[in-house]
Amino acid sequence: MVNVLFVCLGNICRSPMAEAVLRNKIEQRQLADQITVDSAGTGDWHIGKAPHEGTRRILDLHGISYENMRARLVAGEDFEKFEYIICMDKSNGENVRKIPGGEQSTLLFFMDLLPDEELREVPDPYFTGNFEQVYDLINAGCDVLLERIIQEKLQQA
Ligand code: 4NP
Repeated sequence: MVNVLFVCLGNICRSPMAEAVLRNKIEQRQLADQITVDSAGTGDWHIGKAPHEGTRRILDLHGISYENMRARLVAGEDFEKFEYIICMDKSNGENVRKIPGGEQSTLLFFMDLLPDEELREVPDPYFTGNFEQVYDLINAGCDVLLERIIQEKLQQA
């Protein structure tokens, strides 16, 4: 099993969107028995809450489920469970490294999946209100990520 964790600040906008989008792609490729996906935040304001209305609306528009998703904090155990920990922006990465156990963790940054984009961080729609822009980035990045996981972890020669 390959385990993927998306990390943002509040775990209500960007990382749950990425979780839902990647899970949808995994299911479409019939890889749900080989890849799991989860998300978490580094801020505790929204623990237990469903995704933000803007994230729900855009996922609804694309027919993507976010059922049973609830915000949670990144925890020390996550560093053992997840081989791919993907941060939405640089400050998320800095916050993760302050969590006990996370100092040495291998982190990926979402925009590194999209090297041709000028943006180097996924903008926070909680502040920008632009959920469409974030969906487009997340959808494109998750395509790249899924191919990368298949190549790196599932195609053993
Ligand atoms: P997210 O967006 O990190 O993409 O979930 C945010 C959600 C809530 C807050 C900040 C960012 N907040 O400050 O409550």
